[in-house]
Amino acid sequence: MARILWLALSALLTTALCDYTITLTPSSALLVTDGNTTLVNNTAVLAGGQNTTAEPLKNATEGLAYAFLTPTIAKITLNTSNAFHGARFSASESTRFYGVWEYPFNNRIDNANISFELKGVGNNVGVNWSNARAPFFLSSAGYGVYADTLKMGSYDFTTPGGAQFIFNSSSLVYYIILPKGDGGLKSVIEQYTELSARSEIPPTSGLGPTFWSDDFTQDFHGNVSNAQENIQDLVNHLYDNRIRATSIFADRPYGSGNRSWGNFDFDPAQYPDPASFIQNLTEVSGIDFQVWIANRAQYGTKLYNASIQNHWLFPDDHPVGGLGEALNLSIPAAYNYFDESLKYFPAVGVKGYKIDRGEEGEMPDYVQNEQMALFLDLAYDSMVGTWGKSRFYNFARSAVDRSRAKTHVWNGDSHANFTGLAYSVASGIRSGLISFGIWGSDTGGYTREGALTPSPEVWARWMWFSAFSPVYELMLGTNHTPWYPPYDNTSTLAVMKQTANLHADLLPYIQSYTNDVSKTGLPIIRALFLEAEKDEKTWDVNDSYFFGSEFLVAPIVNAGGSRSVYFPNGPSKSYLEYFNKTRVYSAGTTANISSPLTSMPVFVKQGAIIPRGDVYQGNAKWIQGWTPDLRLELYPSFDVPESKFTYYGGGAETEIVLTTNKTDRSATVDTGGLEFNGWGVKIVWFLKGAEEGRVMDMKVHGDGGSLKVTNIETLF
Ligand SMILES: *[C@@H]1O[C@H](CO)[C@@H](O)[C@H](O)[C@H]1NC(C)=O
Ligand SMILES: *[C@@H]1O[C@H](CO)[C@@H](O)[C@H](O)[C@H]1NC(C)=O
Ligand SMILES: *[C@@H]1O[C@H](CO)[C@@H](O)[C@H](O)[C@H]1NC(C)=O
Ligand SMILES: *[C@@H]1O[C@H](CO)[C@@H](O)[C@H](O)[C@H]1NC(C)=O
Ligand SMILES: *[C@@H]1O[C@H](CO)[C@@H](O)[C@H](O)[C@H]1NC(C)=O
Ligand SMILES: *[C@@H]1O[C@H](CO)[C@@H](O)[C@H](O)[C@H]1NC(C)=O
Ligand SMILES: *[C@@H]1O[C@H](CO)[C@@H](O)[C@H](O)[C@H]1NC(C)=O
Ligand SMILES: *[C@@H]1O[C@H](CO)[C@@H](O)[C@H](O)[C@H]1NC(C)=O
Ligand SMILES: *[C@@H]1O[C@H](CO)[C@@H](O)[C@H](O)[C@H]1NC(C)=O
Ligand SMILES: *[C@@H]1O[C@H](CO)[C@@H](O)[C@H](O)[C@H]1NC(C)=O
Ligand SMILES: *[C@@H]1O[C@H](CO)[C@@H](O)[C@H](O)[C@H]1NC(C)=O
Ligand SMILES: *[C@@H]1O[C@H](CO)[C@@H](O)[C@H](O)[C@H]1NC(C)=O
Repeated sequence: MARILWLALSALLTTALCDYTITLTPSSALLVTDGNTTLVNNTAVLAGGQNTTAEPLKNATEGLAYAFLTPTIAKITLNTSNAFHGARFSASESTRFYGVWEYPFNNRIDNANISFELKGVGNNVGVNWSNARAPFFLSSAGYGVYADTLKMGSYDFTTPGGAQFIFNSSSLVYYIILPKGDGGLKSVIEQYTELSARSEIPPTSGLGPTFWSDDFTQDFHGNVSNAQENIQDLVNHLYDNRIRATSIFADRPYGSGNRSWGNFDFDPAQYPDPASFIQNLTEVSGIDFQVWIANRAQYGTKLYNASIQNHWLFPDDHPVGGLGEALNLSIPAAYNYFDESLKYFPAVGVKGYKIDRGEEGEMPDYVQNEQMALFLDLAYDSMVGTWGKSRFYNFARSAVDRSRAKTHVWNGDSHANFTGLAYSVASGIRSGLISFGIWGSDTGGYTREGALTPSPEVWARWMWFSAFSPVYELMLGTNHTPWYPPYDNTSTLAVMKQTANLHADLLPYIQSYTNDVSKTGLPIIRALFLEAEKDEKTWDVNDSYFFGSEFLVAPIVNAGGSRSVYFPNGPSKSYLEYFNKTRVYSAGTTANISSPLTSMPVFVKQGAIIPRGDVYQGNAKWIQGWTPDLRLELYPSFDVPESKFTYYGGGAETEIVLTTNKTDRSATVDTGGLEFNGWGVKIVWFLKGAEEGRVMDMKVHGDGGSLKVTNIETLF
């Protein structure tokens, strides 16, 4: 009885607080209004026999339905006799539209002047094949639009203040999503991902440090004579240099047969004993192992022969022996064959796939999204049966939004120079805006031209960017390994060790945000405007971001070692330089910051709570009797009476609360009884003067866990 009454009351409250309405105007536009204010001008719904002939639907009573599904989500359904459907939106000319593609056209984080299909982008400036995508855009006017389809379509943002999409579909459902309360665009992303899909929490090993080679079957050193020994050589160097690692993956080639792919095996000449080798890697060395896969049938392989016999391949317009056509996975027998064949890999201990291609012309473009989603489903299925959820790491180059629950992403074949790095930073921000939140880039770039690329400078800058990316993955081998010529370079190796080990130590923080990604869809790499929506100066910033909400990260993406950094208004009154903890910058200002290759510009907010520490042993077998070590860095400020952080680790959440009191000059942390695997947590206060870096061991268990420091001066 009480419960029913409560439900009725809360329903009344929501309707009373939100009074968005949607109406159809005589000119067939859909307007979303709040009182007298038009929030969304959906100028036209479009229908036509071709994507080039789609026109505003004249008789809107035919095949159009619209209504609020929740107080903040309007659902629009289109179903007419036409083959193509879409919608057009307009707003003031200065309105920005974000989302749709991971690839940063013109190195921008918005879509100004872009018209392109919802498919893989291909070879382009900075990065080739940066291909996560979503039929979803965010508008700086304060709303989002999600077209719920896997059909092929195009988006057009070439009219200033305008956005348009048209899909090859005789029916189309799209949603206009408005902010919830004062949640701003973050709440739009949250509602959108609830409608489409959210990422699964990855295993810690997937977040890295992860090392790989484009070809472990070459570039042998010392006594190495095959790929298996080559990987062991890598493992040994990581161990000897005390460089933390959690995963290694083998790109193609590693199998037998034509171009190594299609026989679902390891080449016995390169991997004489794969099962025992992988078992040693995971159990003895503490490193998980992944392999490359793709939906392509290489001529003459088992996959090709079965497909030819059963007519599973898309029509072939590639030369025989080339890259191979894709299987049409809409055919259940083809899907099942592929699914069964892949089971070999988890059976020998492989814990995830690097999933390549799917957008290189091996199938008609108009099925790219549907087919890629099917392939990511089967790649997921083949792993989850053996390992269980969140216990393997699949990541793809090409993925559409509904596959978010099935795969994470990397940003494709970045170019190994500063252009590639700058575009990778922008693509990381864009990937976050479409909620592919567990993301990494090939550290140093993938496409190399000439010897000694990346240059040691580019490589070091990129390593720092990866330290502050959700995933740290680094390609070495094939003549660019820091400990072999032409590098043999102690400074590159030193930065690799510094950044990989820093990333490993940040895992408690990063993991806490992977929990957010999976629960709310909010990314870890956040465009500045997501945290500082009211500060217009943040709307176009393509080279710095919030990492979670406590760090402001400004990678150096140009030669020379300095850059300008804008400190956004809103999240904090001032920002403290993170590594040296001396310089403080006021919000709303811009500063020129220099940084040696052994550091990068990173700043923390007032009141920041940052969990760090050694919570995953991985390959660190050099530490005898390893036990987890978790510590909380606290950055109290009297400007912030209370701040909170939800720590996630070992499958559980703990809320940590930091309060300050200016009157008695104190700060108090309540750790919520936080512990890790039965171990207590260290508290590190960052305060002025003698108190600076005061470390307190707090082995509190269960109840309480509150600690107060008095007579303090805060750093900022
Ligand atoms: C809407 O406009 C009408 C007429 O201009 C005005 O009377 C009314 O107060 C306005 N309502 C709101 C909520 O602004
Ligand atoms: C909606 O956009 C159209 C096209 O730009 C414009 O003609 C119309 O006045 C706008 N309506 C509102 C209410 O802003
Ligand atoms: C619009 O479609 C409805 C439903 O099919 C029909 O009844 C009506 O006559 C049409 N109006 C016009 C102007 O064509
Ligand atoms: C579209 O309308 C047709 C005819 O009314 C109906 O058969 C079909 O199920 C509808 N499709 C969708 C996706 O609603
Ligand atoms: C868009 O293109 C127009 C004309 O080509 C150009 O003037 C304008 O600067 C471009 N805008 C952006 C944001 O690139
Ligand atoms: C990457 O794209 C560039 C064009 O931007 C092209 O010249 C190059 O061949 C591509 N590289 C690879 C490896 O595909
Ligand atoms: C129409 O589809 C073709 C591909 O078939 C595409 O190249 C083009 O961009 C699309 N145009 C529009 C306006 O959607
Ligand atoms: C639209 O999809 C159909 C299959 O549903 C396909 O035959 C046609 O070529 C596609 N049109 C375009 C322009 O891609
Ligand atoms: C696995 O490790 C054991 C014990 O260290 C060793 O004897 C064996 O040769 C290793 N196997 C492979 C395939 O590396
Ligand atoms: C990076 O490489 C690309 C492709 O080789 C080239 O077009 C671009 O100018 C290079 N950028 C820099 C900063 O060297
Ligand atoms: C931090 O301080 C150290 C030593 O004082 C210096 O070497 C380093 O360059 C500084 N780093 C930054 C980012 O200022
Ligand atoms: C802050 O400290 C003063 C002095 O001890 C105390 O009176 C006051 O209640 C404290 N404020 C809060 C919010 O705890």
